This record gives sequence, C-alpha cells and structure tokens, in this order.
Amino acid sequence: MKELNLHIQAIVKQEDELTTQELALLDEARRATYRSYAPYSHFSVGAAAELADGTIVTGSNQENAAYPSGLCAERTAVFYAGSRYPDQPIRRICIAARDTNGEFLKHPISPCGACRQVLLEAEQRAGGDIEVMLYGTEGIYIIRRIKDLLPLGFDESFL
Ligand code: THU
Repeated sequence: MKELNLHIQAIVKQEDELTTQELALLDEARRATYRSYAPYSHFSVGAAAELADGTIVTGSNQENAAYPSGLCAERTAVFYAGSRYPDQPIRRICIAARDTNGEFLKHPISPCGACRQVLLEAEQRAGGDIEVMLYGTEGIYIIRRIKDLLPLGFDESFL
C-alpha cells in the first residue's frame, strides 16, 4: 500500500495587492453579478474570463423555474467564450458572488463540480494553465490552474 497526497496551493491577496490586469478582471466579475438572473436562489454570481488576446468575456448565473435547466456563471462565461471566440484560449477566470442580501461574500465561493469539469476541458483546450481568482471581500484566492481544483479529474484521455 502507498499513500497518495494531492496538494493544492492558493495565494491570498487583498484587493490593493492585485495587478492592474487582475483588478480589471475582478471589476468585470463583480459587474457581471448585477446581470445575474436568480429569482429563485437570490444568489448572484459573476464570472469574467480573460482570453489570450486580452479580451474579457463575462457570464452570470441564469436560473429557470425548472431548476436544473439553469446554468452557473462560470459555464455561461466559458461556453460564451468558446462560441464567440473559439480560437482564443482562456488564460484566467475570476468569480464573484453576492448573497441573498445583495452583499459581496466575505469568503470566496468556488466553482461547483460541473463547472470544474467544464473548466478542466477549457484548460486542456487552451493548452496552458487557466488561473483562477476567487473573490471574497476579505481576501482573493488565486489558484494556479483549474487542474488543481479537480484532481484526478475525468478527461478525454480515458475515452
Ligand atoms: N452558482 C454559480 O453560478 N456558480 C457557482 O460557482 C455556484 C453556484 C449559482 C447556481 C444557482 O443559480 C445559484 O448560484 C445558487 O446555487
């Protein structure tokens, strides 16, 4: 028997420690939360993806009365990027959320399992790491790549 230790590392920055580029992406993610359609959960999520050429695309969660038919902010952004700019790899994604009182969360949320799966494939398609920024008002987690958020993930290599 042997033990397998899977390790992930996050850097935690305060807003005033972000680079200009990071701050611009965060602003877009925050702004995207105001375009969320969340009449059921009242939980507004925004995602902003930075593409290789510097273009920023955003998405927000879009809910539906048939609950599972809705989509998270991250997948909305990734699928929009793929359909609008198929030749531009995603390099970085930032996620922000506001709670049922409309306040930005103190501690970051991180993508659900289905979004991690979709992001993993976007990373493989990009042919390079996609850095993840998770916004909390008390600290912004920066994770080097999606693969770290989905260790032992399933991908096309198993097919
Ligand atoms: N949601 C996202 O958009 N992204 C996440 O990372 C977690 C959850 C959405 C789905 C649903 O519209 C609402 O937040 C509550 O779960």
